[in-house]
Amino acid sequence: MVIFWRRSILPGGVWRCILDLTWPRVKGTIILRARDPQEEEKAIGYAAEILKKGGIVAFPTETVYGLGANALDPEAVRGIYRVKQRPADNPLIVHITGIKKARELVRFIPPEAVVLAKKFWPGPLTLIFNKKKLVPDITTAGLSSVAVRVPGHPLALKLIAGAGVPLAAPSANLSGRPSPTTAEHVLEDMAGSIDAILDGGACSVGVESTVLSFISDPPVLLRPGGTTLETLEAVLQKKILDLTTDTSGRGGDFAGAPPSPGMKYRHYAPKVPLYLVEGEGLPQKQQLAALSESFALMGYKVALILFEESVGLFPAPVVRVLGSRKNPQLAAEQLFAVLRSMDSLDVDVIIAEGMDDKDLGRAIMNRLRKAASQVITPS
Ligand code: TXA
Ligand code: MG
Repeated sequence: MVIFWRRSILPGGVWRCILDLTWPRVKGTIILRARDPQEEEKAIGYAAEILKKGGIVAFPTETVYGLGANALDPEAVRGIYRVKQRPADNPLIVHITGIKKARELVRFIPPEAVVLAKKFWPGPLTLIFNKKKLVPDITTAGLSSVAVRVPGHPLALKLIAGAGVPLAAPSANLSGRPSPTTAEHVLEDMAGSIDAILDGGACSVGVESTVLSFISDPPVLLRPGGTTLETLEAVLQKKILDLTTDTSGRGGDFAGAPPSPGMKYRHYAPKVPLYLVEGEGLPQKQQLAALSESFALMGYKVALILFEESVGLFPAPVVRVLGSRKNPQLAAEQLFAVLRSMDSLDVDVIIAEGMDDKDLGRAIMNRLRKAASQVITPS
């Protein structure tokens, strides 16, 4: 039954069946490897055909892998919500090739946003504007605004151009799981439920794009990400309203509707409890030591997520290192892979060391807080 449904989406009739045999599959999902220029053209051509026919293809961006479908086709977009098990009130980002395409989808782009788009696109920055009718309500979960971004990954740009349509794409994980930064991560969550994966290797940024809304003035930061708040403010030469600094560990306990629907959901959570110890310096180290000792005394098997500088300070059966505190780029690149790896370990509890809430550290801490079952702030 599944095979029949798949065939109705995939291109090329009988020829498609023959062509298909050249690609490996996992549970029916085609793996389109595009790691060298020769493979690339064929893989992108095939992926684009699937998208044109209303199918779903996971593809690499510079941040994380996205779960792509034609953003202007309500049926295709419905498929994204279904396979991702995404709540119907959480809108999708529409991926395009440039600012000209954005103008086709949105009513008005304020001059300040044009400045940012020119400076940071292609790149990890998503901008929100009021949408035109052309964008289906399901893509924006019924909101009158739409989030658009030009991804900074050559494969993503070629795929959007090849498909000839804007691509709605959330991160290609099951809702609540850490975002995928490799095709293997995508397969863990999506094998058998999507048509294909365009495999372009590991993503370089590792955390998702920064989400900035231009629906009101001043612009509002809805999610810290790969483009730092500090850089955005420096370019705009004005303050951005930061609505993401909630430290409840749930990413927002909003009295009414949250400014971005995604803010109210817990994310990135490993299967066992994660304790995040915020701050820096001696108080943080003392808290980390006390916590890991007390769990060990209770007979719990502890996994630690640490920065290089702290390795060896706290004995634990499992230690994963995010690199140096001084190199948040590397920590961001590795964060989701480390969180995912926790699920294959035989441990009872995870303790993670926090870092400074600034620059890229702001995005890393935002993800760790959302992953945490408890956030501890040493006094
Ligand atoms: O880096 C990224 O942004 C990745 C790659 C694949 O591009 N995509 C991604 O999408 O992270 P997703 O769906 O996992 O996160 C999009 C976030 C959600 O929190 C959603 O609520 C918010 O953007 N969002 C989307 N459209 C919005 C809108 N119109 N108003 C407010 N928030 C919006
Ligand atoms: Mg996501």
